[in-house]
Amino acid sequence: MANIGILGSGGFGLALAIHCVDNGHNVCVWSKFRDEVDTIKRTGQLASKLAGVNIPKEINVTTDKNTLKNCEVVLVGIPSSFVRDVCMEVKDCISKDTIIVSLAKGFEEGSYKRMSEVVGECFPKNKIVVLTGPSHAEEVARKIPTTVVCASDDGNSALKVQKLLSSGNFRIYVNDDVIGCEVGGSLKNIIALAAGVCDGLELGDNTKAALMTRGISEISRLGIAMGAKVETFAGLSGIGDLIVTCTSMHSRNRRAGILIGKGTSPADAVRQIGTVEGYICTKNAYEISQKLGVEMPITEQLYNVLYKGSPASGTISNLMTRPVSKEKHESAYLSYINKK
Ligand SMILES: NC(=O)c1ccc[n+]([C@@H]2O[C@H](COP(=O)([O-])OP(=O)(O)OC[C@H]3O[C@@H](n4cnc5c(N)ncnc54)[C@H](O)[C@@H]3O)[C@@H](O)[C@H]2O)c1
Repeated sequence: MANIGILGSGGFGLALAIHCVDNGHNVCVWSKFRDEVDTIKRTGQLASKLAGVNIPKEINVTTDKNTLKNCEVVLVGIPSSFVRDVCMEVKDCISKDTIIVSLAKGFEEGSYKRMSEVVGECFPKNKIVVLTGPSHAEEVARKIPTTVVCASDDGNSALKVQKLLSSGNFRIYVNDDVIGCEVGGSLKNIIALAAGVCDGLELGDNTKAALMTRGISEISRLGIAMGAKVETFAGLSGIGDLIVTCTSMHSRNRRAGILIGKGTSPADAVRQIGTVEGYICTKNAYEISQKLGVEMPITEQLYNVLYKGSPASGTISNLMTRPVSKEKHESAYLSYINKK
């Protein structure tokens, strides 16, 4: 049994809190927001984030950051835009021996840092682990069989997290490619938004399959240019997370895309849905790709829709009428950049 702390009483934080209690751990969930904590204490649920899911009484949900003091592991379940602020807020209460597990998907705006880099800067003496993969909170909370990966520059910490958090319905694979795992988990939100746009435009399964396949291709290209291993994108944090998010109504990115495809403005769609990390990630990824000289046609089209007012209806035709070319495996791209 371990003491496990979770930052953020949102969908994923609570789902993993339920899972950790089932695994026999002492769990505290810290939130900055008194209303979230009060709602959970009063109703035993947080219906706005995890409708119909009961939060076990053994979970200590609190706004008191001192409860994080004796945790062996702290999971960061905060949307990527707020990870740095939250980590800085609680850092004085967390021991240097605590393993910090980053759950957030995305890059820091402006610096383009991966979330484990941001977390690592906030906790420079701690070991940092990334946990990612196809894992909708709504399903993890209902104990639906789920597989994820954990990755770390410190193999022992990844193994410890694997041991503490694995169960018969939550299977964790260790992966040593931190960059690839984080890039896959972040960029799939862009393709999910685009897949939603496709659905909103009432296009067919052929189009969706094309988008997902060409999507993983451009995710891999950017990932390789950022230092990832090509094979990671064929795994749970790559194609696995892409499949779950492009096909499920649990995905807020896909739901925002559907609204945009049906004619809602991007800003209104994001306002209606709430946390839509693919929105900012599209801008970040577009800017990174421009800096690194990596071709990302889907990301570029979505960027134009989200930030430049281009009509969603024109995007597919723009993609379909690009100069025809050969289908190349991304390993060919890898050997190309290795030679450069
Ligand atoms: N929801 C999922 O299914 C899922 C699955 C895998 C990974 N993730 C990742 O986990 C992270 C959290 O996702 P989520 O769905 O739980 O998000 P969420 O929108 O439910 O928010 C999580 C919590 O973060 C806290 N928070 C939000 N804004 C804050 C702010 N400005 N300052 C301080 N605290 C703030 C709140 O307690 C909030 O409930 C995201 O990066 C997401 O990509 C989510």
